Parts: sequence; C-alpha cells; structure tokens
Amino acid sequence: MFSQDINAMLLLRRCQSLTRLAAVGTQGHQAAPCFASRAVRLCSSSREDQRSYQRANWSANWKRIAAGVLAGTGAVLTYGLLHQEVEQADAGLPTTEKSSSLPVFSLDEVSKHRSLEDGVWVTYKGGVYDVTEFVPIHPGGNKILLAAGGALEPFWALYAVHDQEYVLEILSQYKVGELSVEDVKKQDDAKTSDPYSSDPRRHPVLRVNSKKPFNAEPPPEILTENYITPQVLFFKRNHLPVPQVDPASYRLRVEGLPRGALTLSLKDLKTRFPKHTITATLQCAGNRRSDMNKVKEVKGLNWGISAIGNAKWSGARLRDVLQAAGFGPEVAKWARHVHFEGLDKDVAGSAYGASIPINKAMNEDGDVLLAYEMNGENIPIDHGFPVRVVVPGVVGARNVKWLGRIVVSAEESGSHWQQHDYKSFSPGTDWSKVDHKSAPAIQELPVQSAITVPADGAEIDRSDKTLTVKGYAWSGGGREVVRVDVSLDGGKTWQVAQLRSGDKGQPDEPSPPPGRAWAWKLWELTAPLPPDADELEIICKAVDNSYNGQPDTIPPIWNLRGLLNNAWHRVKVKVTEG
Ligand code: MTE
Repeated sequence: MFSQDINAMLLLRRCQSLTRLAAVGTQGHQAAPCFASRAVRLCSSSREDQRSYQRANWSANWKRIAAGVLAGTGAVLTYGLLHQEVEQADAGLPTTEKSSSLPVFSLDEVSKHRSLEDGVWVTYKGGVYDVTEFVPIHPGGNKILLAAGGALEPFWALYAVHDQEYVLEILSQYKVGELSVEDVKKQDDAKTSDPYSSDPRRHPVLRVNSKKPFNAEPPPEILTENYITPQVLFFKRNHLPVPQVDPASYRLRVEGLPRGALTLSLKDLKTRFPKHTITATLQCAGNRRSDMNKVKEVKGLNWGISAIGNAKWSGARLRDVLQAAGFGPEVAKWARHVHFEGLDKDVAGSAYGASIPINKAMNEDGDVLLAYEMNGENIPIDHGFPVRVVVPGVVGARNVKWLGRIVVSAEESGSHWQQHDYKSFSPGTDWSKVDHKSAPAIQELPVQSAITVPADGAEIDRSDKTLTVKGYAWSGGGREVVRVDVSLDGGKTWQVAQLRSGDKGQPDEPSPPPGRAWAWKLWELTAPLPPDADELEIICKAVDNSYNGQPDTIPPIWNLRGLLNNAWHRVKVKVTEG
C-alpha cells in the first residue's frame, strides 16, 4: 500500500470522522463549535486529497462521498466551516485551531499507550499522536507497533521511506497533544544516528532509484559496453542498511541437519572446500518495471532496463558445504528447501531472508555458490561482503547477500520477501483481492532482452545510412539464448542480431554445458536505415533453447507489483537531416 491508497483511505477516514463528529455536534449545542472545529481541522487539506484521490484512480468521486456523508448527518454548519477553512488556507490565513491549544503530555503518559487496547501513541518532533486507527492501514503492517509509546524518529531513520511530505501530512491528522518541554529535551539528547551513515560510497554514474536503502542501476548504454559488468556499475538492490561485517570474526552457521549446527569462518570456506567459478547474470524481478508502470500504476522502485548485470563469481559450492554439514540420503527424504538469512536486519531484528528448492541447492549442475569473490576480487560491500549466495538462473531476490545463516528445512522460508513479495499475479488481481498464499515465490526467471543503444528518444542522422542497435539477452533456469530478433519498423520486418559471450573483438567464453547457461549474451545488429522514415520503432525479442519467447506487449503480463516485465522491448528514435 502506498501514498495514494493511504491518502484515499485517509480521506474516507476523515469523512467518517466528520460524520461522527458532526453527528455528535448536532446533539448538543455546546459541544458543536468544538466538534465542528475538529472536523474543520480534519478536512483542512481536502483539495490535496482530491488530487491524490484522483491519482489513485479510485472510481468513486470524493465530493459525492463527502456530500453523501454530510447530507446523511445534516451537518450543514460543518460543511460551511469546511469551505471557510479551505478558503482561509488558500489565502494563506491561519487555520482556526492552533497546536498550542492541545494538551501537554509527558513521555510517561505516552508510554502507557503501547497496544491496540490502550491506544497506540507515538511522539514526533515534540508532537503526540494517537495512531491507533492508522495501525490496520499502515503499509509496513504491525511494525508500527514497535514505536508505540515512544518516539518515531529512530524508526523513521531506518525506514527512510517516511522521509516524505505526505507521510507528515498523514501523521498530522492524528495529533492529540504536545510533548512536555523537558521530555522533548530528553529525546533530543538521545538522538539516534542514521543507520545508513556507514553505507559504502557509490559511483556517481549510477542512476539512483532510492538512497536509503540504496538502490541504483547504471545507464543502459554503459551496461552493455562490458560482457563482465564491472563491480562499480553492477546494479545495487538493498532493502535495508548495508551491514558492516568484520571478515576476521565472520561466522556462517549451517543449521537444520541432524548432526547439529556447523559453523564456518571465511577461512574455512576458502580452504576446506574447492573454489568454483561461474559466470552468471543476476537480474532483479523488478527490472523494466518503469515500462509496466506506464501501462498502469504498479508499486515498487521505478527500475529502468539495467537492474541486471553479469559477473564472475567464485566461492564454495553450497552442495559441498551442505554435505560437510551432514546432508545425506536420510536428510534428502524430508528436506525440501534451503533458507538463507542475511546479516542486514530491520528494527525488529528480522534479517533479509529467502529460500530455494533443495533440488537446485543439491544438484551437481545447479552451481549454487557461497561466493566470496566477484570478478576476481573480494565481493564488494554492496554486493554482500564477505559472503553471498549466488543461485544462477534464479531471481536476484534469492541471491542473499551478507550471508549469516543457512537452514535446511522441510518448509519454505517464512521471510516477508519469500511469502509476501517477489510473487506475480494475474493482470486482473488488484490490492483488494490479492492473496499472497495463492502464488508461488518466483525462482527461475523467464527469457528477457532489452535494447541499450540507441536510447529511447535518440536522434539518428539520416546521412549515417546505417543504424547499429545493441542490447542484452538472457534466460533463467540455465536456458541458453539462441536468437535475438530485431525490428526497425515496429515489428513488420525482422532481422537476426549477432550474439556474443565475451567482449567485442575478444574470443567468446566457451559454450556452457546444456542447462547451465547462466550468463547473458550481448547482441548487436547493424542494418541500413529504412529510407524515408522520420521515426523508427525499434523492437527486440529473444528466444531461448526451450524455444520460449517474450510476450509482445505488457498488458497481458501486467501485475500489481510490476514484476517480471519481459515483454518485447521497444524504443522510438527520430531520423533527422544532418
Ligand atoms: N540480500 C540481502 N541480505 N539483502 C537484500 O536487500 N536484495 C536481494 C538480493 N539479496 C537483498 C539480498 C535482491 S531483491 C536482489 S535483486 C539482489 O540481492 C541484488 O543484488 P546486488 O545488489 O548485488 O545487485
């Protein structure tokens, strides 16, 4: 649930409050001005809500709802005051209620409100807020209760998504009082530090989708300059602050096996197990979400086409480590999944987690690594130093970074990211209908390709006579891309692009064994410019060795989280005269 939904709900809530308050107001003349004034405060930003409401595409018209609600109560006086209030606010006049008229509470009093039964109160910058009614609609669910009875600041510092104006606006609706001056001072003295302050430095060329947590991708035209993506350019996808892990004291625990837990140091991983190297592409399930978002709004970071990269990963095979920990035929009878837990934790102490099916983990040809090197160097901090899981052919989300714990289990991981995210649904499923249990967690990814050069909207000089189109293509599950088709005329005619598995002018990497094509292919097509065209629609589509293809348009694969967009990629360019 995101800002638009919350705003829309907020509006409904305000209207409900208005109904309640106005109804009480009509029962007793003395109480009326006070309730009317509260109703006015609740509705003071109704025009902004109207805009949010329209953005959220709710079919109902808010004015009709508000009018209906008001007509039901006969609160004409309140409605008149509402108009007066909006006009005053628009004219830059002070509103009718000042915060100083609210009661003053001590932290002690606030701390008594820590549950739905006693009410959920929080403080923020000297204000006291009763957010009990907001708990059921909080996008982060029950996590809001962690802050109950105390200050919001330490939690908002961790979840920087709150650092937005609309969030403050929502909070302001729940204000019930002021915190005593002495307690404000106490809170100031105990100010928390920014949990993201120790995040590593990143290359300025990256396009940042969110700073805290850090999520960024390289510009597409740079992405395919290298067959092996340099670490600094590799997309970064973090859900939480990056943990600082001391390699000397690092320990990996392997649990769930009858022999008991196995604890391994980084040195153990490097010396007790053979080092295995694979070239594998990692792609986020949200890659190309921004195009899906254009079709119909989806929720999530607005990734372009570069939430994908190709690297050489080295480390111990997961299979070898599990066998050393006691995995054998007896365990194989009941074990179905392997869980991975990161060392990055949220405020509640829950780690990032995911799981993969046991068959992928134990398959000799599965190539799942506990990787400690990326492109021949220690894994960079952003990519999971000192150890991350690399599950080739499988969605990025299961490639857990800063790996702290492995658990062999009969069940799938219960992590939020396994159970409630990284799942796809029918285009007809909306947030009111979605049942996360009904869909399996994404594992292997479908066939994908995209055009990195030219960029959408680029201008091509007609006198060049030819046009070079470049891009990447990849398929999940070890399926090899065998062909990329390119059209310069919106799909009327097609030409086959040249594929390569190495840098331009360099020999290709050896062909992978069947079922183990973990790396992408880069492709290129140079073709004559179609004569007389002023605009070209360039399209690419890939085919893998199972003859899987890509869908031609987005609407049939649209889903509310904007995942798995692998529709034909299209860019439009203008042909200009010199
Ligand atoms: N592992 C941990 N511990 N924490 C994370 O936030 N993000 C996952 C996965 N592993 C994540 C994680 C997701 S959604 C993706 S797409 C990949 O890491 C991204 O890996 P990268 O940042 O190395 O490109």
